[in-house]
Amino acid sequence: MFVSHLQVSDFRSWEQADLVFEPGPNVLLGANGQGKTNLVEALGYLATLGSHRVATDAPLIRHGAERALVRAVAVNEGRELRLELEITAGRANRARINRAPVPRPRDVLGIVRTVLFAPEDLALVKGDPGERRRFLDELLVARTPRYAGVRAGYERVLKQRGALLKTAGSARRAGGSGDIRTLDVWDGHLARHGAELLAGRLDLVAEIAPHVANAYAGVAPESAPVVVKYRCSLGAATPNSEVGGRADREALEAALLEGLAGIRSQEIDRGVSLLGPHRDEVELILGEAPAKGYASHGESWSYALALRLAAYELLRRDGTEPVLILDDVFAELDRRRRARLAEVAGAAEQVLVTAAVPEDVPEELAGVRFQIADGQVSREP
Ligand SMILES: Nc1ncnc2c1ncn2[C@@H]1O[C@H](COP(=O)(O)OP(=O)(O)OP(=O)(O)O)[C@@H](O)[C@H]1O
Ligand SMILES: [Mg+2]
Repeated sequence: MFVSHLQVSDFRSWEQADLVFEPGPNVLLGANGQGKTNLVEALGYLATLGSHRVATDAPLIRHGAERALVRAVAVNEGRELRLELEITAGRANRARINRAPVPRPRDVLGIVRTVLFAPEDLALVKGDPGERRRFLDELLVARTPRYAGVRAGYERVLKQRGALLKTAGSARRAGGSGDIRTLDVWDGHLARHGAELLAGRLDLVAEIAPHVANAYAGVAPESAPVVVKYRCSLGAATPNSEVGGRADREALEAALLEGLAGIRSQEIDRGVSLLGPHRDEVELILGEAPAKGYASHGESWSYALALRLAAYELLRRDGTEPVLILDDVFAELDRRRRARLAEVAGAAEQVLVTAAVPEDVPEELAGVRFQIADGQVSREP
């Protein structure tokens, strides 16, 4: 697929911007702080309903404005879909597809598909486990939008169960026993939703791991090989049975339920859920050691790049080419890695590249050019 139009109003620094993109390379050029990343962030938001830079929506709305608007036209095998998203801080967003309002914003997921690689991605390797879990979950949703509901359901359960554990903890400290029956019910919810998310992640890691290893060997052939592993908070109790070549959801649910029963007292003491996919880790191993804390800066960059390239490869194999977005990344890469990335990007159905100066854009990606300055976008003839 490719995106033929992007229009934003009151998004970040932009009062108004209107871009007509072409298939193949589209390069956004402009000095620091002119709003290049803001534009690709808007497109990324349409694809994931999240920003690669911030966790909340408020910073996405232009200072002083009430709400931001992002509109795009996605073209998939000749078929056009018009998407519109209204972002209001602290309230539910509203979405339209072909001008018709849809019940939930997440109904737009899966229409615009993007793989965005940006300097922030270093956190995939060096950051907290939450960064790596988010990487998996976003890819899961991009491939199978149904997982947006699974994720939201699980988050809801965690919140409610957390509140209940805190109440039970206070009751216990006051000499009572708390509402154990209700807790049993929430254990069941956590195990059910958790198992579904967990099964999705386990399957995804099994599928993506060889692509990450391949992509890494491609960008850093002189380096030690990499291995990606999923480490479940169930530890040794994680079932590894499969049904039809996929993770066994029922076995995972049973194992979670049993695990929860074993740690209930501890959970009540601490007032938090200690078991489930929100406590899991995606191990990124380089040679013999975890990349986090051991890998060099260049190796960490290559690892992050390999994760994104692998995601791109999986989405492609699913049958819809995602838009590849490369935000200010070429300046960070050495010659070999630049060349490797340029090769992949040059073959993409559509790629959006941002850079401060044209010298940072490899020749393979000479395409349509936009100059971004003083709140204006001008397309070069
Ligand atoms: N909510 C907002 N309202 C108004 N301005 C904002 C908002 N959020 C960010 N900005 C402004 O947007 C600018 C940054 O834009 P952006 O990150 O897109 O720059 P860029 O062109 O990618 O620069 P660089 O080359 O440094 O990456 C900053 O000047 C910042 O103050
Ligand atoms: Mg930028």
